Amino acid sequence: MTILVTGATGTVGRHVVDQLIQKGHKVRALTRNPLKANLPKGVEVVTGDLSDPSTLGSALADVSGIHLITTGAEYTPLQTGPEIVELAERAGVRRVTVLWNGEKGPFERAVEASGLEWTQLQAFEFMANARKWADAIRSEGVVRDLFGGSRIAPVHEADIGRVASVALTEDGHAGKIYTLTGPESLSVQDKVRIIGEVIGREIQFIESSEEEREQMRRMGVEEEAIDYVISWHLNPPESASTVLPTVKEVTGLQPYTFAAWVKENADLFI
Ligand SMILES: NC(=O)c1ccc[n+]([C@@H]2O[C@H](COP(=O)([O-])OP(=O)(O)OC[C@H]3O[C@@H](n4cnc5c(N)ncnc54)[C@H](OP(=O)(O)O)[C@@H]3O)[C@@H](O)[C@H]2O)c1
Repeated sequence: MTILVTGATGTVGRHVVDQLIQKGHKVRALTRNPLKANLPKGVEVVTGDLSDPSTLGSALADVSGIHLITTGAEYTPLQTGPEIVELAERAGVRRVTVLWNGEKGPFERAVEASGLEWTQLQAFEFMANARKWADAIRSEGVVRDLFGGSRIAPVHEADIGRVASVALTEDGHAGKIYTLTGPESLSVQDKVRIIGEVIGREIQFIESSEEEREQMRRMGVEEEAIDYVISWHLNPPESASTVLPTVKEVTGLQPYTFAAWVKENADLFI
């Protein structure tokens, strides 16, 4: 049977696709724009829009499992979640993984209330979020960001992909909420130092919540949401910085370090 990956062209989804292919599974990838999808050979690419469930008919046919994202444009929660869950159940889907976005919305609640075998994947921070510093590092050798001292244990997107591929294809993961972290709790300043060490350049860190606020405004994020993000980063919950053994427990593999992520992506910063 085929596994459908939503968000397949995105940072995390692409790793879910790669991991499933590596394990020999048939993968179908959902995208709104197949011409831009650029997915590996052998992946069946289907067109569909999660904000319009009427477009998902062919994507859901003969699918045993789905990797689900729960947000659409500008990271706003998809209000269509309950309809998508109903369609998936009717299509005979058995398992789903749900990539959580911090707060439970209608989509997550509908999955929990369904008869599907669900596994929720929660990540406080993707290592790939460091990409937002790339332009300023390349051009000025600086990083401007919120509160340099607050710590989070970021996870490599490939580890989310590994966990998702296990949960979608093996028994024993239904009804679990997995919080996924990398192997270290890192402050923003730690991450900036590690990038500098890997690329061999000293990078200056400038604490600036105003810069961050402006960047979010340019992305169209609402003021209330900006305030929430800033106060969260000022004082992240203890759980966000706690290193957890989940990736190793589920996959049998050590999670990737942030230094490994930077090495893979060093070209972005040079
Ligand atoms: N960044 C973090 O630290 C963090 C932490 C936890 C959770 N998350 C959540 O994790 C999810 C995945 O993040 P990411 O960074 O991998 O995403 P990303 O790289 O920003 O890519 C977004 C993906 O979502 C798809 N998409 C967006 N709206 C869609 C719609 N209406 N219908 C179908 N597909 C749609 C896009 O597909 P096409 O453009 O090809 O259609 C693309 O594959 C997001 O929901 C994000 O909110 C992020």
